Amino acid sequence: MSTQAAPNPVALAARRLSVPAIAARKSSHEPIVMLTAYTARMAELLDAHCDILLVGDSLAQVVYGLPTTLPVSLDMMIAHGAAVVRGSSRALVVIDMPFGSYEEGPRQAFRSAARLLRETGAAAVKLEGGVEMAETISFLQRRGIPVMGHVGLTPQRVNVLGGYRARGQGNAEFSALMDDALAVADAGAFAIVVEAVIETLADSITQGVKCPTIGIGASVRCDGQVLVVDDMLGMFERTAKFVKPFDNLAERITRAAESYAASVRSRQFPEISHVYQAAAADRASSN
Ligand code: KIV
Repeated sequence: MSTQAAPNPVALAARRLSVPAIAARKSSHEPIVMLTAYTARMAELLDAHCDILLVGDSLAQVVYGLPTTLPVSLDMMIAHGAAVVRGSSRALVVIDMPFGSYEEGPRQAFRSAARLLRETGAAAVKLEGGVEMAETISFLQRRGIPVMGHVGLTPQRVNVLGGYRARGQGNAEFSALMDDALAVADAGAFAIVVEAVIETLADSITQGVKCPTIGIGASVRCDGQVLVVDDMLGMFERTAKFVKPFDNLAERITRAAESYAASVRSRQFPEISHVYQAAAADRASSN
C-alpha cells in the first residue's frame, strides 16, 4: 500500500476550520479573526491568517462600484464564493445570501442557500435580520445548512433604515436589537455578526447569546472581529468610523501605476530581461 497521500479534495476540506470549531470559540475565548474576500488570490493571501473568510455582499460597493448591496444576485455570490473556496484551504468560507434570495420564507431561503453551498463548496451562509428571520434560520440549520446571523445595522435594509447610522441608541431600539440577537442565537445560528451598534449593546449581546459574536463597529469584547478587506488595506479614502486601515494600499497602487506609466512613456520598460529572443537553432534556420 502506498504511504503517499492521494490528492483528494475531501481530505483538503477536512483541514478547514469547521462550523462547530468556530462555535466552540464561545467557550474557549480564542478570538475569531474574519475578513471579507471576493477573489481567489486574495483568499490565498488571507487564508493562513483568518479563521473565517466572508464572501460578503459588500462586493457590490468594493468590486462592482454599486451604491448599495441591493443589486447583488445569487449568481454573483456563487461566482465569487467559488473563487474564494478555490483560493483557500484552511479558513471556513461563509457566503452572504443576497437581498431577495431568502426573505420570502424558509423554502425560498433553503433553495438559495443550497445553491450557494452546492455550487461553491462553501460550508455556511450568512443572512441579515433578527426575530423575523428566526424561523428561516432554524429551518436551514435543521436541514444541514449552517447559518451565521447578522444584526444591528443591516445594510440590505438601508431603504427602511434611511441610512447607515449606528444602531442601539434609546431604550426601545436597544431592547429590540437585543431581542433580535437572542432570537437568531436561539434559532440555531452558529455565530452572529453585530454591525455598527453602541458598545454597551454589543457587550450585552455578547454576554447574552450562546454563540460567538463577531463585531464590526461594535466592541473589542465581541468574540471576534470582521472588517471588509479593502477597508483594512486602506483602499478607500472615505470609510466608516469603525474602520482602521492597517496599510495604505491606495497610495501604494497609485505610486506603482505612476512609476509604470513613466517607464512606458520613457521607453525604459520592457527591459532586456523582459523580452524574448529567438533560440539559437531558430536563428540558424532563419539564415
Ligand atoms: O457584506 C459584508 O461585507 C458584511 C460584513 C460587513 C460583515 O456583511
